[in-house]
Amino acid sequence: TNSEEQSSLEAYQWLVKLYHQLLRHSKDGKEALEYLYKRGFNDEVINEFQIGYSPSSREFVPQFLEKKGFHKQKMANTGLLATTNDGQYYDRFQGRVIFPIRNHLGKPIGFGGRSIHGQEPKYLNSPESALFQKSKLLYNFDLARAEIRRKGEVVLFEGYADVIASYQAGVKNGVASLGTSLTETHANLLRRYVDTVVICYDGDPAGQNATYKAIQLLKKVGCHIRVASLPFKYDPDQYIQEFGEESFRANVIESADTEMVFFLQYLKKDFNLSLEGDRLQYVEKVISEIAKLSSSIERDHYIREIAEEFNLSYDALSQELMSRMRNVE
Ligand code: UTP
Ligand code: MN
Ligand code: MN
Ligand code: MN
Ligand code: MN
Repeated sequence: TNSEEQSSLEAYQWLVKLYHQLLRHSKDGKEALEYLYKRGFNDEVINEFQIGYSPSSREFVPQFLEKKGFHKQKMANTGLLATTNDGQYYDRFQGRVIFPIRNHLGKPIGFGGRSIHGQEPKYLNSPESALFQKSKLLYNFDLARAEIRRKGEVVLFEGYADVIASYQAGVKNGVASLGTSLTETHANLLRRYVDTVVICYDGDPAGQNATYKAIQLLKKVGCHIRVASLPFKYDPDQYIQEFGEESFRANVIESADTEMVFFLQYLKKDFNLSLEGDRLQYVEKVISEIAKLSSSIERDHYIREIAEEFNLSYDALSQELMSRMRNVE
């Protein structure tokens, strides 16, 4: 790292402390703290994740950094400060709750700022820089690493809030990609640490599509996958709020199912299963996927399930499967 990056790293450490102090002790921060409490975050995780608040003032942070002896233009070069067209420095996160983003060594290298009064965008991230590269970073990897190793398993979430809420619920091997979809770099990084990735994305269509894509990527690098599915209207953090930590662990994380179970469900969205023609098309599509499974026990299991679900003959489906498998080879 060059000297500009080096001093940005130092500045990030100061800012994490500053934002956290402001959340804890300023009049302005009180509202943000109450927002966090209302969302169910407790003091322990607020401290552990060093959640903070940036005051509603453009100059406060640039002035703070200047007083600490940092060079504002250098801070702008690495994305830590923003600049206006006429060359003024300001804090892009003003008025937001701050989630510090740490690299794998535990050093803060960026922020995610969440609006608390409904301003768009809901989340604002630090811009890409040499220090902060979203396609390579997994949120919370440093804190989760020991538990990931111990379990041989990582839980992959969509958002910061999900990682933190799950952590509070006792699921401490959770990470998230930072508002981008999972990349091949992420997948390779995970593969180095674990056999199995549990995907726990939001229950909405966007989350399901992202799950499908993540499965393809993770399979390519050789991970085993389980999918922890959520009811349609929930993400992990909302689920925990509504149904509690115990239920989240037991009914979501521990109950994560095979990728094929997810897939059988996911494929249905393309068909109107009350129509016979669609039903048969769906079954054919599913059989061609089942044909790709390497275990004959698994293939047999899913063929039986499909036969039962659609009231079709097991023998006919098996034959279909056989002919597909010849085609696969
Ligand atoms: P979500 O909208 O699912 O966020 O986006 P969330 O974590 O559930 O947010 P809360 O619970 O409303 O606070 C998932 C992730 O996508 C990124 C963030 O990293 C977020 O955690 N994101 C989302 C953005 O970067 N910008 C946005 O405007 C929205
Ligand atoms: Mn989402
Ligand atoms: Mn969400
Ligand atoms: Mn959420
Ligand atoms: Mn089954």
